[in-house]
Amino acid sequence: MEQKRYGHFDDQHREYVITDPQTPWPWINYLGNEDFFSLISNTAGGYSFYKDAKFRRITRYRYNNVPMDNGGRYFYIKDGDTVWNPGWKPCKTPLDFYECRHGMSYTRITGKKNGVEASVLFFVPLKKWCEVQKLTLKNESSETKSLKLFSFEEWCLWNAATDMENFQRNFSTGEVEIENSTIYHKTEYRERRNHYAFYHVNAPIQGFDTDRETFVGLYNEFADPQAVMEGKPRNSHAHGWSPIASHYIEVTLKPGESKDFVFLLGYIENEQDEKFEAPQVINKKKAHALIAELDTTEKVDKAFAELCALWDNLLNIYKVKTGNDKLDRMVNIWNQYQCMVTFNFSRSASFFESGVGRGMGFRDSNQDLVGFVHQIPPRARQRIIDIASTQFPDGGCYHQYQPLTKRGNNDIGGGFNDDPCWLIFGTVAYIKETGDFSILDEMVPFDNQPGTEVTLFEHLKISMDHVIKNLGPHMLPLIGRADWNDCLNLNCFSWDPNESFQTTENVSEGTKAESLMIAGLFVVTGKDYVALCQKLGKNDEAARMQKAVDAMIEAVKKHGWDGEWYLRAYDFYGRKIGSNENDEAKIFIESQGWCTMAEIGAEDGMVAKSLDSCKKYLECEHGMVLNNPAFSKYIYEYGEISSYPEGYKENAGIFCHNNPWVIIGECIAGRGNDAWSHYAKILPSYVEEKYQTLHKVEPYVNCQMVAGKDAFRPGEGKNSWLTGTAAWMWYTVSEFILGIKPDYDGIRIDPCLPETANDYTVQRKFRDAEYEITIHPNGAQKGVKSITLDGKPVDGTVIPYSAGKHTVEVTM
Ligand code: GLC
Ligand code: GLC
Repeated sequence: MEQKRYGHFDDQHREYVITDPQTPWPWINYLGNEDFFSLISNTAGGYSFYKDAKFRRITRYRYNNVPMDNGGRYFYIKDGDTVWNPGWKPCKTPLDFYECRHGMSYTRITGKKNGVEASVLFFVPLKKWCEVQKLTLKNESSETKSLKLFSFEEWCLWNAATDMENFQRNFSTGEVEIENSTIYHKTEYRERRNHYAFYHVNAPIQGFDTDRETFVGLYNEFADPQAVMEGKPRNSHAHGWSPIASHYIEVTLKPGESKDFVFLLGYIENEQDEKFEAPQVINKKKAHALIAELDTTEKVDKAFAELCALWDNLLNIYKVKTGNDKLDRMVNIWNQYQCMVTFNFSRSASFFESGVGRGMGFRDSNQDLVGFVHQIPPRARQRIIDIASTQFPDGGCYHQYQPLTKRGNNDIGGGFNDDPCWLIFGTVAYIKETGDFSILDEMVPFDNQPGTEVTLFEHLKISMDHVIKNLGPHMLPLIGRADWNDCLNLNCFSWDPNESFQTTENVSEGTKAESLMIAGLFVVTGKDYVALCQKLGKNDEAARMQKAVDAMIEAVKKHGWDGEWYLRAYDFYGRKIGSNENDEAKIFIESQGWCTMAEIGAEDGMVAKSLDSCKKYLECEHGMVLNNPAFSKYIYEYGEISSYPEGYKENAGIFCHNNPWVIIGECIAGRGNDAWSHYAKILPSYVEEKYQTLHKVEPYVNCQMVAGKDAFRPGEGKNSWLTGTAAWMWYTVSEFILGIKPDYDGIRIDPCLPETANDYTVQRKFRDAEYEITIHPNGAQKGVKSITLDGKPVDGTVIPYSAGKHTVEVTM
């Protein structure tokens, strides 16, 4: 059956082009790269915030709304009796043409109606705290057009959580100021806030509104605001209730004529003693300055060109040419782009994450780093220091921290025993990319307490020690509240629906359950730690840790093998989880991934058997499920995992994040055909055509979860954008499949390919060097036969680093 299509890739412009506004789910994009961020859907829904989606929410958004995705930055155009929006919503007036182009940190939405074209370019200029909305109106008809244009933004009262609940206060606090074409939002500025926002347009206005009910009408909707329908702004001045910002502009366009309007949504902070210019009047100096930087089309176009140049540079660092467009576009464009977004947003704000729940995750951020470190290493460096600063002196860590304050989040606390290992994972990736060992000497505090600083290296050491000091009865790592799988809560024991699975422990005997996932993770990161110590000449420390790694390997071989695959865990009572002995969930993916990456028992055939079992029991049409068979009932001893219906989320969903672990296991084992077939199943560009309607979510990025084979609707995607899948897909394809792996002294070349692979070339900037690497697979899945660097043969598989341009030829 022909699938309905909602859009397509435009590789030349690095855009995804949506041609039907009624996508099966809002398909969104992200604007902003450092401090000021926005989410924008294909119908211009979404919101903006400064640094922290919870504490500095600039515009209001109602999640899980009816209709879905209602609220955003809207332009209403009244042309005679017809009112329409360039992005179709909220009026939903049928358009003569609609197109949304999501690009690298920008979105362009174009609509046409009755001979008028309205095109809006949305982006956040580099280093500026504002969102630009450049609206171009063009008269394509043969008559003069007199249009009435209304803009619309709704302010959030800053704290996105209390904004949704504390109405007895909120309805009395709202305050605005209006000055010419700028509407200022200053709620709470009179007291403790030193920040305000503004919405400006670079043209004279003929009216405005700042009070929502006056503009919309209490019994109307965003789809038919009274002021717009009547073509008459009310010039309302909000006091309390719900402040908004709407400009009213009368536009006359001759046939063929077009006009640009630059709208700016800005954020300003003032010093305490410079907050006011007169009693009750906010100091607008910085706002005026910011507006002056972007008040013409030329200035805006220049700022946009700068943003595009940044992306040219970022995407020039690793570029592959395989001749397979579907692969090339994911590697060269979308996978790298998604990595940047997850690095910036962690798991805080998407259309599935409300921006109020979670800040930055300790484990998540370390993994995100790996997808991003080649692009802007200094930001990765800062992130490592920030993360390590939330560690406790015993090596445990806060599970999350708030980006605004960088403080550990007390609500969730610590006790997730995989967390410490990820610090090694992130730090090693940073040093291999940059060669910057000096990061290890940085003085980093515990729990952000001044005076507690030790070197970052010391943090790595206590991270490893945290695992060693927390071993269980089988000498395997204690799981704590959970390991990577937040839902495997083996010490929780809850019958109370009001308890959190992650933070509840209803037994007093301490934690006893053990994790094979942490065991594998410890061996992988432990080997990295040993190699790092050797590199630093810390040979005693290397030997000490090697012993611990060897002991862990022995423990896994002895207590962690089930015959055909690795066990997943031991529960509180010492019973096996993820074993053939269990009725359900006989096999889990996480321990297969980590123990095969760690090559535990490879010599005894364990790795090959485990990988075969993944194919046999976990693989399905859409990828590999997390466990099999799914849990069909709640198991009190296991926690949240069994709370999900079959096939969703951690209960046998295709949790895309962990598929790459098995794929890397396949690559290390040299099984290129299998690695590739697993990879292609969750590669968005491969899924795109087949599943535009079934999959539902954005076809240009990975989502956290695709419903598994036991689900009611297998193949349906959820939780798009913010997922460790982005970094892991990148790490897998760039380093293990295409085989270009940064190392301390150069680049290691070790591809693992399907036997059908053709010759390909990777251009890789690395520190001060630039390599053009051509690989000739010759039908081999693995194994580099010879390498030449600038025409001269190289011993082994590492091309030694030296600055400058180089050509590399690799024969497999
Ligand atoms: C979510 C969390 C991540 C966790 C995963 C599995 O993606 O952000 O930290 O590892 O779920 O539970
Ligand atoms: C839920 C989700 C899991 C996520 C966790 C974060 O348990 O299933 O994916 O990591 O919440 O707290």
